[in-house]
Amino acid sequence: MNKSLVQEQFGAHAAAYVTSTVHAKGASLARLVQLVAPQPHWQALDVATGAGHTALAFAPHVDKVIASDLTQEMLTEAAKLAAEKGFRNVETAHADAEALPFADASFELVTCRIAPHHFPDIPTFVSEVARVLKPGGTLALVDNIEPDAESTPGFVPIELRDAALIYNTFERMRDPSHSRCLGMTEWSELIEEAGLRVVHKERAAKEMQFEAWATRMGSSPETIERLRRILLEASPALKAFLKPRTVEGGLCFTLDEAIIIARKPG
Ligand SMILES: C[S@@+](CC[C@H](N)C(=O)[O-])C[C@H]1O[C@@H](n2cnc3c(N)ncnc32)[C@H](O)[C@@H]1O
Repeated sequence: MNKSLVQEQFGAHAAAYVTSTVHAKGASLARLVQLVAPQPHWQALDVATGAGHTALAFAPHVDKVIASDLTQEMLTEAAKLAAEKGFRNVETAHADAEALPFADASFELVTCRIAPHHFPDIPTFVSEVARVLKPGGTLALVDNIEPDAESTPGFVPIELRDAALIYNTFERMRDPSHSRCLGMTEWSELIEEAGLRVVHKERAAKEMQFEAWATRMGSSPETIERLRRILLEASPALKAFLKPRTVEGGLCFTLDEAIIIARKPG
């Protein structure tokens, strides 16, 4: 995935992420803080901070948070939001998740929420996190997942592979900077391969309103119609995963998030 496409997409729609319900008020924010139990002396890094919602959720509980992102317009929104909320311990930094510009063993906590599916090389991102974490440090990760046997039981591997492929295509049609969501099991394996230990994982369902989701990245009416058809005509495995339904006259579906907490040994 071309990283300039990420900057173009998010640069053009940065302001929408300040108020996006999923990002600003998603249940995974409070859950993440609860699971991590941050300490007042901690130095924290939020990777791909977007409008800064995750960095700001941790700011009251730690000494300092660096809110980092590849897209300058997002960093501007994050800095503005931090100032509006009166946080003096939040700094912004321009950083590629796959080449973090920080020294080894710099942070007690690295967070990354609803973003790795944009990274072209997730294993490199995870090894960068392992490098910048202090021994004993925590990775707190949230990301949308693709269907696999763990999240969507009752289907044979080929049905799940097809559903995963179409799901990622569905996401990429709406947002060309979408690279790929990983499955729940794949995430755990990858984190362990980077030398971190998964200490907790869970799945959380996010209720999505189709119209709001489809329009946030500026999709054309034709693309929105194609997305609607994919959702309504999905295979049984993809329907079991996305659960398309009508609520109060509007089309809704479910996205599953993985919430994973991992520790660097030592
Ligand atoms: C959906 S937003 C993040 C939401 C945010 N973390 C939150 O909790 O509200 C995705 C962000 O990932 C950033 N991004 C995508 N690829 C990146 C990369 N390789 N390195 C750093 N940031 C990246 C985008 O610029 C965008 O701001």
